[in-house]
Amino acid sequence: MTSPTDPLVLFMPSGKRGRFPVGTPILDAARQLGVYVESVCGGRATCGRCQIEVQEGNFAKHKIVSSLDHISPKGPKEERYERVRGLPEGRRLSCSATVQGDLVVDVPQDTVINAQTIRKAASDRVIERNPAIQMCYVEVDEPDMHKPLGDLDRLKAVLAKDWGWKDLRVAQHIIPDVQKILRKENWAVTAAIHKDMEFSRPTMVALYPGLKNEAYGVACDIGSTTIAMHLVSLLSGRIVASAGAPNPQIRFGEDVMSRVSYVMMNPDGREAMTAAVRQAVNDLIGKVCAEGGVDRRDIFDSVFVCNPIMHHLFLGIDPTELGQAPFALAVSGAVQGWTHDIGIDVNRGARFYLLPCIAGHVGADAAGATLSEGPYRQDKMMLLVDVGTNAEIVLGNAKHVVAASSPTGPAFEGAEISSGQRAAPGAIERVRIDPETFEPKYRVIGVDKWSDEEGFEDAAQATGVTGICGSAIIEVVAEMYLTGLISEDGVVDGALSARTPRIIENGRTFSYLLRDGQPRITVTQNDIRAIQLAKAALYAGTKLLMEKQGIETVDTIRFAGAFGSFIDPKYAMVLGLIPDCELSEVKAVGNAAGTGALMALLNRDHRREIEREVARIEKVETALEPDFQRLFINAMALPNKVDAFPKLSEQVMLPPRKAAEGGEGEGGGRRRGREGRRRG
Ligand code: FES
Repeated sequence: MTSPTDPLVLFMPSGKRGRFPVGTPILDAARQLGVYVESVCGGRATCGRCQIEVQEGNFAKHKIVSSLDHISPKGPKEERYERVRGLPEGRRLSCSATVQGDLVVDVPQDTVINAQTIRKAASDRVIERNPAIQMCYVEVDEPDMHKPLGDLDRLKAVLAKDWGWKDLRVAQHIIPDVQKILRKENWAVTAAIHKDMEFSRPTMVALYPGLKNEAYGVACDIGSTTIAMHLVSLLSGRIVASAGAPNPQIRFGEDVMSRVSYVMMNPDGREAMTAAVRQAVNDLIGKVCAEGGVDRRDIFDSVFVCNPIMHHLFLGIDPTELGQAPFALAVSGAVQGWTHDIGIDVNRGARFYLLPCIAGHVGADAAGATLSEGPYRQDKMMLLVDVGTNAEIVLGNAKHVVAASSPTGPAFEGAEISSGQRAAPGAIERVRIDPETFEPKYRVIGVDKWSDEEGFEDAAQATGVTGICGSAIIEVVAEMYLTGLISEDGVVDGALSARTPRIIENGRTFSYLLRDGQPRITVTQNDIRAIQLAKAALYAGTKLLMEKQGIETVDTIRFAGAFGSFIDPKYAMVLGLIPDCELSEVKAVGNAAGTGALMALLNRDHRREIEREVARIEKVETALEPDFQRLFINAMALPNKVDAFPKLSEQVMLPPRKAAEGGEGEGGGRRRGREGRRRG
């Protein structure tokens, strides 16, 4: 029983608070409030996992004056731990330290992720932990002839008594070894207990002699092109190592649809692709473990995100149904199981969790990005896009979230573009065109200088100038539009060949010469058409969702995925890839899907959160929407045939618009007196 005069304890960063009698161990106070503080040794002051810090000062907002005098001095057990293992300055063991007065207690969280891995000015985010795996040290009673209870039964009894694990299941593979393990360290053992959902039964998944004071997990994003992985300590939240590797399924097909075709045409195609991706995941686990100095047998949990086709292939499910309407998923909800059953070689008792898929083309990766960016956690209307060969689009706020995918094709990744290539050293990544002379300047990946700066050619010798990658494809088409080289319909103005040798005739159309060298890099009419088709698909999908939400504008835009990290928002908007928005509200968030996987790995509450939200999301199938075609045709124009871009116009002088044809909307675009001159 607490009284209103008992000391007040506030835990940060959770903000949970409560009153506790003097003498309450801080760990107990945390437990009572549902604040997750790790403990392996069960309060014996030997594991050191329960460390906290007291914040000193007058916290007027919380009406708390917190002081080091309000926590008990170190007792013999804590002193012994400090002597033997060392305690960082300011840290205390919360199992030993007790409440003596009002306190603000900081629970250190090692997982501070930089939500934007590329852009600066990112806000660091803390993931509070509540993992599905807990390591529990116990000392088991020795056998007694008068109480013929089995060794395993006495182990279960003490786990129930010391840790509250009632109704514990024991993984079958442990049972034959229980007696040996119990005797090895004189009846002291550590059990790894898995418990995910509130109502699910806890399961002992591993058992070690003595104190086992470490447990790891992996969070993995299986992309069609790249697989990315974090190795994380489940006991501290620390990211131990991160690595990526190409998805070896590329040899079966560049994009997901060609991989579905491969399955349909080859009797062993599914098995081969499943084996390939699982092998790659296993290899990547080997890589992160080597980097982090971790034994892969110490990995007990894993979380995966992937698009629906990768999801099916990884689980060994035939993805054929996803290749045709109605794009039926074999399973859309979250999937859990033993990693052993999906061929992942870590601890024999390790578990896996796959986030739910949102729809047939909007996968667990989009769910991961949604969990990471949390449109449903805020009032602002957020547009979250992951641009790939299939763009995944999520739009919403706390009231309602809608999601769709749109077939953008591989143009943004450099495919279907005459000089296109993936982002790699030597690829042109930025382009500017002089509005008077139409002369270009550009930058290539791996070289700091612009092409018109002295020393550029020498600096570019090492990499060469090999082609144009996605970000530059967007910029060059947008710049061509801003400088009047192409019309709003995307047609190269052949008449300008009289003013600049950079416009060259190419049969019945014209091209723009970006670089006259080896190789010769041009932007052809076909290239521009391919970009228009891709951006129109993305915009039409977005617009469809905006119409579902009944909104004209979005408040904030998040670009997820590697591609989004390199796009300049201004050019993306000039091109009409994304709707009008304050440029400062357009942000790249890097691998948000991977961040979502990390959140679900470290805190099982996030699993419930995204399961709940995915069930609430309204799924829109663009292919079945009668309005899609109309929106797509409007979106072929730059930036758009009918939609206005007033916020963009404040920063960029857009060329004057032709009157909208066919009476679609208001036309929206303001006419401009001067052509092709940028303000910002
Ligand atoms: Fe192990 Fe405190 S719980 S040292």
